[in-house]
Amino acid sequence: MLRFRSLTCVPLIVLTTAVGALAQQATSPDLDRKIDDLLQKMTVEEKAGQLTQFAGNTPETLAAVRQGKAGSLLGVLGAQQTNEAQRAAMENSRLKIPLIFGYDVIHGYRTVFPVPIASTGSFDMPLLEQAERVAAKEATASGVKWVFAPMVDIARDPRWGRIVEGIGEDPSLGSRVAAAKVRGFQGKSMADPDSVVACAKHYVAYGAVEGGRDYNTVDISEQLLREVYLPTFRGAVDAGVGTVMSSFNDLNGVPGVANHHTLTDILRDEWKFDGFVVSDWGAVHELLAHGFAVDGAQAALESLTAGVDMDMVDGDYAHIPDLVRSGKLPVGVVDEAVRRVLRVKFRAGLFEHPYSDPNREKTDILTPENLQVARKLAQESLVLLQNTSDILPLSKSKTVAVIGPLADDKASQLGPWAGNGQAKDAVTPLEAVVAKIGKEHVLYAKGVDIPPFEGGLAAGVAAPAPASATGAQGAEDNGKPASINDAVAAANKSDVVLLFVGELAGMTGEASSRSTLDFPGDQLKLINAIVETKKPVVLVIESGRPLDIRWAPKNVAGIIQAWFLGVQAGNAIAEVVFGDASPSGRLAVSWPRSLGSIPTYYNHRNTGRPGSPDRWHTGYLDQSSLPLFPFGYGLTYSKFKYGNLSLKTPVVSTDGVLRVSADIENVGKREATEVVQLYVHDRVGPTSRPVRELKGFERVTLRPGERKSVEFSVKANDLGSYDPQMRWVVPVGTYDVWVAPDSASGIEGTFEVK
Ligand code: BGC
Repeated sequence: MLRFRSLTCVPLIVLTTAVGALAQQATSPDLDRKIDDLLQKMTVEEKAGQLTQFAGNTPETLAAVRQGKAGSLLGVLGAQQTNEAQRAAMENSRLKIPLIFGYDVIHGYRTVFPVPIASTGSFDMPLLEQAERVAAKEATASGVKWVFAPMVDIARDPRWGRIVEGIGEDPSLGSRVAAAKVRGFQGKSMADPDSVVACAKHYVAYGAVEGGRDYNTVDISEQLLREVYLPTFRGAVDAGVGTVMSSFNDLNGVPGVANHHTLTDILRDEWKFDGFVVSDWGAVHELLAHGFAVDGAQAALESLTAGVDMDMVDGDYAHIPDLVRSGKLPVGVVDEAVRRVLRVKFRAGLFEHPYSDPNREKTDILTPENLQVARKLAQESLVLLQNTSDILPLSKSKTVAVIGPLADDKASQLGPWAGNGQAKDAVTPLEAVVAKIGKEHVLYAKGVDIPPFEGGLAAGVAAPAPASATGAQGAEDNGKPASINDAVAAANKSDVVLLFVGELAGMTGEASSRSTLDFPGDQLKLINAIVETKKPVVLVIESGRPLDIRWAPKNVAGIIQAWFLGVQAGNAIAEVVFGDASPSGRLAVSWPRSLGSIPTYYNHRNTGRPGSPDRWHTGYLDQSSLPLFPFGYGLTYSKFKYGNLSLKTPVVSTDGVLRVSADIENVGKREATEVVQLYVHDRVGPTSRPVRELKGFERVTLRPGERKSVEFSVKANDLGSYDPQMRWVVPVGTYDVWVAPDSASGIEGTFEVK
């Protein structure tokens, strides 16, 4: 039985939103005519075929292609392989409708870029766009025309493994990143030979899974959905994204793959998205486990009628012909889904150019130019969290101990879900440091291994010991593995230690959530032993999530959060460490103090007893409720002074534009880049408003002594919010405004909206 799950209790939403104007590609009468012609010729089996994606180019999937029972193949790579499969469609199928080849190009195809949580923190939209241009060029050279990216899930819980793939915690930054990535992937036209069709995923609120456990239930208010989790998708849709992928999670009782409210009421009817929606892997059939369908036929019916046009790999859409014949499924619903799929195939130029040019594989992949973009983005993505006594940058004549299990681990530099990336392409920090200062200046010791987690339990993970006198946990344990001795010896012989610790790449990503934020294995013992040598230490953390580093600020001089920076990780780290480049990356997520302080995010609402953020009654008795490092935070090798905040528009009308400026001056000794951020707080709204919301940012590069006036313009409409009836309103009254280096500081003023 067909169930309509639209939330009828939610009133109609006004179409104006905070996120720019619609930029859909117009549907031309010519295109409609071509689609109508094809639809008229198609049998219902062929229609179901266009709505079906299979994995791989096996004899079975190729047979399905010849019979017109497949519209897309996933994970077929290489010009030869994709062209061969395409020939099965173009030469052997009755209607010769081209296949579209899909693949996960989350942070690069072969030239692997920093993981998304890292690159979002670059705040560099042109560079992010350029990186996806490179990814599109490489993917298409390999026959891939459709990428399952950008992943635009907002996440506030670092236990969730996929926080690494996501777009940070801020909807405003995230929606701009989403748009930049879509522009990069799709280029001027999706039909260009070096452009791909992008896919915004996972729609929607996948990042809000309870407890951070992957695929878990999500139960959130409509307001939270609209203000925090939807805007990044809106950013992608407004930028013209060709496709959207529905999410695995159940949202307020309705699985993402069968959610009419999100897929049709919002995506199609409100936002006018006219591309197609694909399910996530096997998610249609998972409706059985969700308790939402009794069998594959009902699962197909629920998904298709909710708004999922293409079924990824589980084959349930093969029930479509029977559903139509039995009268349960109107053929018009099927036609509409096929129309969307064909529209994207036409827009992608597949009918004119179904094949890829095999020569491009030799010329377009892993080129020096591509690697240069990866190196620049890696430099801009790492975050300098602490630099006591200006320990960094290091002099190149020092003797440096390079220590730790991640210093020379090629695979982990790439991070999880690294497309077609290969470990051998990665430059490790050890290799790059040796290349930069010479072998004679470098002492290397791995110290400890990071044991993989097995069966949900951390094999070999020592029970966290209480904090030691120095603060580094594990200090009391005398049973140090022998190799730590080598590491201690190396530290003792050096002037300074670069300590590379964190997680293996596989410890974040899909189905890789964690119940703690600890350093796996014996790494804390290693850290503690190195700290006890009293040598100056620069901690370089490679991980896909913020880890618990409460002990670090007092015990080490420098802290760099390197995330997983991709093929050029080592070079980027060495360039920053030795001062060839100044760091400029910022945190795209707030850094929680400990596991117990999850969730920590900057754009929270006030309590009725806000007081000072550290007052006992607003947080915990045993620790501050502030993040260890706030969203937007990151240091560089110079100092910037903020002054002369000027409200050019002290009073703004609800249809006007807010204009704010401030002077930013480089008062340090080196050229450096500052990410200047604009935050706003609506003091009184129809619902309680977040204490701060990011409304603008600009990367500003200044020489020592140089000063620049940075001006922000924000449409008053973008200061609005949803009222309890879910209508978008721009509240009148007083607003606070900050021009700031991060979400917890800055120079402050006020303005009125009238
Ligand atoms: C993931 C998606 C991915 C798909 C295809 C799923 O398991 O959730 O992000 O695009 O597989 O590889």
